[in-house]
Amino acid sequence: MLKNIVVFASGTGSNFKNIKHSIDNGDINGMIVLLISNNPNCGAVIFAKKYKIKYKIINDYRYKNIDEKNNQYKLVLDSYNTELILLAGFMKKIPMNVINGYKNKIINIHPSLLPKYGGSGYYGMKVHQSVIKHNEEETGVTIHFVTEKYDEGPVIMQRKIIVSNEDTPETLSKRVLKIEHHSYQLVVKAFCSNKITFNKNKVIINE
Ligand code: GRF
Repeated sequence: MLKNIVVFASGTGSNFKNIKHSIDNGDINGMIVLLISNNPNCGAVIFAKKYKIKYKIINDYRYKNIDEKNNQYKLVLDSYNTELILLAGFMKKIPMNVINGYKNKIINIHPSLLPKYGGSGYYGMKVHQSVIKHNEEETGVTIHFVTEKYDEGPVIMQRKIIVSNEDTPETLSKRVLKIEHHSYQLVVKAFCSNKITFNKNKVIINE
């Protein structure tokens, strides 16, 4: 059975596009049933329109009342029988009603080796700028389950790259994004084939 996947994205959406292409290539036992975005003009929404993927805009303009907005996320997710939520550059906080309703079914990708350079204020180029500023020897990507603790849920996969003397935040961002695409695809594939399990709080990807 294909798993119903809902992607949340606010920006370019390159991770979203990459997952969609992997699905189309038959690499993942899932289908993207919906894109949720706060930004109707972002690259992810433009891509969804082009590929006839359903999308829903949820933001403060459309839902002025916070409870109404939070309920809307949950209602929409429930109505699509969502089995996996992928955060792919979503710039808003996931409300508690969704986190509680979809425990161990929400996955986020972050462009650093968490817990380093994670949490509030660390997004986009800010992450890579900090890595360079602190003369880190390595950086990378973290894919993790989402819990109520921002950027702190159980880690599913981390991949490292070496930071060279020539690296700038821009070169790092490109190099990290490349491993993001590959790693996210592997994780989503494993999840959709029921190969991700827990041993106490540790995540195992079974062969
Ligand atoms: C990625 O770096 C991801 O790790 C972070 O947001 C960025 C999204 O990039 N959460 P894209 O929109 O998928 O290209």
